[in-house]
Amino acid sequence: MVFPTFKMLIAVKEHSAQVHGKLKENQQNEVSMAVRTAAAIAHPNIAFIKYWGNKDDLLRLPMNGSISMNLGTLYTKTVVSFRDELHCDTLKINDKEINGEALTRVAKFLDIIRSMSAEPRFASVESVNNFPIGAGIASSASAFAALALAGSAAAGMELSEAECSRLARRGSGSACRSVPGGYSEWLAGDDDQSSLSISIAAEDYWDLIDLIVVVSESHKKVGSTAGHRMAVTSPYQQMRVESAPERLLECRNAILQRDFNRLAEVSEKDSTMMHAVMMTQNPPLFYWEPLSLDIIKTIMDWRKDGFPCFATLDAGPNVHIICPASVSAALQQRLDKIPGVKEIIRSNIGGAAVLV
Ligand code: PMV
Repeated sequence: MVFPTFKMLIAVKEHSAQVHGKLKENQQNEVSMAVRTAAAIAHPNIAFIKYWGNKDDLLRLPMNGSISMNLGTLYTKTVVSFRDELHCDTLKINDKEINGEALTRVAKFLDIIRSMSAEPRFASVESVNNFPIGAGIASSASAFAALALAGSAAAGMELSEAECSRLARRGSGSACRSVPGGYSEWLAGDDDQSSLSISIAAEDYWDLIDLIVVVSESHKKVGSTAGHRMAVTSPYQQMRVESAPERLLECRNAILQRDFNRLAEVSEKDSTMMHAVMMTQNPPLFYWEPLSLDIIKTIMDWRKDGFPCFATLDAGPNVHIICPASVSAALQQRLDKIPGVKEIIRSNIGGAAVLV
């Protein structure tokens, strides 16, 4: 799919003004504000250098920078409509009415949009994903990147890519990396203004594939928002954060030089370091399943034998296996033969979040 540029697509569909209400005594019609709607598509991303732990939980300012690639085959499409008749924000995900914590999180995010714009009304949010949510494929990243873009446009704002990335970060940290296209680096920053993501290489710069081995589709028990808060309780977190700049440099250079082995070594190490922190924080978080570990070890062996591939895991048991596009069919055949592997989702690299 070829996406038009971010700026070209900044356009808000304003439906024709609705006339409602009865004729007033003075015989004048009461005309409501238009329903304002916008829709956006954003891709989830997989991090090579991971984000884990905040120095400010409310603003979601991360303890360390991170680098990821967008997953072009997977997407969230979100439609936001600000309407007169609503008495609260509403949320539908994959056609299902959602209440509780997820709705509260979205409503708080819409509050930020309302505070930035001249739009005071409540909104309906309808979101569709083409991949399993809450199981280590960063659905909150694509969800809040799409919501930031559609919500701000529906509220009448034309945000720059940087402004949209900052806004998306407030919903879910990793969402700020799904706003720019291709390979994205989140500059940790130290305040709201300086913490945002930029594209370090476009999606056509280097043709990598993510083969996601779905170990479990069930929703994770402890989400990343709660997990980030407890990262500081691990004795390894400080060491991980302090050494992150070296790995960021190594990862950035590996991408810019299209050096697969270098990217593999640093990414695998960084993923294991993040999971070591997760497993040793209080309470401990074990996202890996036995099958996840079997796959990680198999992938390491294959790479030792000269097959270009590496494994990385986010906050879930599913294993993301990254490889050059040229070997992805052969790799998929090998993976299909691993006992217990049920489903493999294949994604190429993706572009920026766009209005549709
Ligand atoms: O954006 P969050 O709060 O869902 O955190 C995501 C954290 C990891 O996926 C585990 C790592 C990352 O950098 O994406």
